[in-house]
Amino acid sequence: MAPTSAPALLWGGRFTGAIDDLMFQFNESLSFDKVLYKADIQGSITWAKALRKLDILSDEELHQIVTGLQQVEKEWEEGKFVINTKSDEDIHTANERRLGELIGPAAGKLHTGRSRNEQVGVDMRLWAGEQLADIAEALKGLLSVSAARAKEALPILMPGYTHLQRAQPVRFSHWLLSHATFLKGDLQRLEGVRERVSSCPLGVGALAGNPFGIDREFMAKDLGFRSVHPNSLCAVADRDFVVEILQWASLLMAHLSRLAEDLILFSTAEYGFVQVADAYSTGSSLMPQKKNPDSLELIRGKAGRVMGQASGFLASLKSLPTSYNKDLQESVEPMIDCIKTVSNCVRITQGVLATLTINGDKMKAALTDDMLATDVADYLVRKGVPFRQTHHIAGAIVRKAEQAGVSISALPLKDLREISPLFEEDVAQVFDFERSVEQRSTYGGTSSSSVLAQIAAIEEFVAKN
Ligand code: ARG
Repeated sequence: MAPTSAPALLWGGRFTGAIDDLMFQFNESLSFDKVLYKADIQGSITWAKALRKLDILSDEELHQIVTGLQQVEKEWEEGKFVINTKSDEDIHTANERRLGELIGPAAGKLHTGRSRNEQVGVDMRLWAGEQLADIAEALKGLLSVSAARAKEALPILMPGYTHLQRAQPVRFSHWLLSHATFLKGDLQRLEGVRERVSSCPLGVGALAGNPFGIDREFMAKDLGFRSVHPNSLCAVADRDFVVEILQWASLLMAHLSRLAEDLILFSTAEYGFVQVADAYSTGSSLMPQKKNPDSLELIRGKAGRVMGQASGFLASLKSLPTSYNKDLQESVEPMIDCIKTVSNCVRITQGVLATLTINGDKMKAALTDDMLATDVADYLVRKGVPFRQTHHIAGAIVRKAEQAGVSISALPLKDLREISPLFEEDVAQVFDFERSVEQRSTYGGTSSSSVLAQIAAIEEFVAKN
């Protein structure tokens, strides 16, 4: 069916011709901005209150508008809102159209001095603010689970890697907290993003400001915003908060995907360090034996989606002329999708970690004596040999062990002394993974005291924020 002819649309006064069918669909945003219905109604109720303060609305009209809007909200909530697919262009026009049907002429006063350009900014910011508060809570949950699992797994040692090559022994908890440390940074950055999302554009008009002296401070406060947007031309053009959300989310997703990648590797038979619970795995339609870590693979994959949204929208924003342009509508879908993606990924990661089986024995079995070569060098450092020499000496020991086909701890003292006469009986103590780990007890290290301090710091951070 053809859409309503342009003259009959909300903005159709100056139009005579009909809008093209495809153009109507191309232009409409209700199909995705309907999730903003509640924020749109909140914004309109506040706007109506501000109009009442200016005597543009009477008490009776304000009452009609507020109860009418509450009715519209209820219809959305109960899934009973009937969309007019021929005329409802976006959430703002849909709500106003329905309000008019419910309360009659008073509805026509609501949009006095207001523009959809400011309305969409208010709706997006209110909605995003609420969602980001939820995501902050979810991130705290993820940090708490990381801390709890780190505490429980404290005695477990594993190979620490650089370049994916076995490097030095570390505590499994230390590895887990390395990821939690990234996530803590994400939570700290999120607070800054939330501050800037919470700036109220209401009262800026289409671009130039409000001619009736509307009380912008009152409206910002009434809607729970932290500040009032300071420039009308900027306010209707400002989707920096969306860029910030997308870029913030990109880095968070990079962190989650790195954690996911580690866990995917660690859950292979080749490592066997961890096992992802059935609740977060799926099977193969062909190979009966398969159990795949799809949860983690999806997180890794979705990181690309979010990063694409960030660079995609930034490209839309680049070179836009001053104030509002319809290109800005392109900010709505990525914002909504990105927030949903991030929220799911954080919660799924928490679930995966909470239910993960940690195979300490497998990790222990993967520790090899050559990972203590640095400790051998350090042994000689403690005897006064410059590190550059000890590095060579320890290297020579590794080579000798390799030639002999034994591990470095199996070389007789005699062989060691041929390389350096400073080796004594007590060198045997060096070949102890636990000792190696416990020696790294400075701030941020992998000893149990350092790891426990990290756990305490994360617990305190979650409790305080
Ligand atoms: N759906 C529009 C958006 O998301 C609302 C603002 C429309 N403003 C306009 N001048 N057509 O940007």
